[in-house]
Amino acid sequence: MNLFIYESNEQLNAAAANLMAAELQRNPKAVLGLATGSTPIGMYEKLVEMHRAGLVSFREATTYNLDEYVGLPRDHEESYYTFMNRHLFRHVDLPEGSTHLPLGNAENPADECLRYDASIEQANGIDLQILGIGHNGHVGFNEPGDELHSGTHIVQLAEETRKANARFFASLDEVPSEAITVGMGVILKARTILLLARGADKAEILKRALRGPITTQVPASLLQLHPNLIVMADSEAGRLLQA
Ligand code: GLP
Repeated sequence: MNLFIYESNEQLNAAAANLMAAELQRNPKAVLGLATGSTPIGMYEKLVEMHRAGLVSFREATTYNLDEYVGLPRDHEESYYTFMNRHLFRHVDLPEGSTHLPLGNAENPADECLRYDASIEQANGIDLQILGIGHNGHVGFNEPGDELHSGTHIVQLAEETRKANARFFASLDEVPSEAITVGMGVILKARTILLLARGADKAEILKRALRGPITTQVPASLLQLHPNLIVMADSEAGRLLQA
């Protein structure tokens, strides 16, 4: 594991954006695994800036997002599809057909999960997977539990996750109770994983994920098994990891 701890948010955003830009320079056809949540927003802003300055192009890239709420239409204000458009897609040169998210309101959700996995396979897997981490150690929407799944699947969101995400909705009742998420197998097959964490409220779970036992009760702990894991944290989230 390569761990980088940054003094400022600005430095963290620049380092994460530079890593993705370097991947795209090396391999313009890179398949990028993208994440939502507040953590990667600064990285996306930086990438948009770099794109406007002519420093990075997504023209030949393909993207797959980790997850989507079940039941929200794509154009809902808080769908992850809308989030990605708002923060990245509409500001860069990614062709429309090259961006992928699970379809949250698919008629047959089980088929949608299979279709999504097949599509990722067909693209020859993910080169660089961006991840945030939930307060309970979830990645994507792989929630803690006795079991984890390898492929894309439907999950019941943990109450803690719904509460954490209620800040984006008018009330807790409006937060969907299910999501489609890629599984841990899909994530672990990515050739490189970049885990981002910021804020004091992530310090404890980041330490458990990276230094604690590997357990399904902390899905992010499985990342310890990955041969090419890069972790970028701000000084608050990384506080308990500094030797
Ligand atoms: C969400 C997402 C995750 C994200 C996590 C943390 O619900 N499904 O992909 O990493 O929660 O979010 P944040 O970055 O806002 O703390």
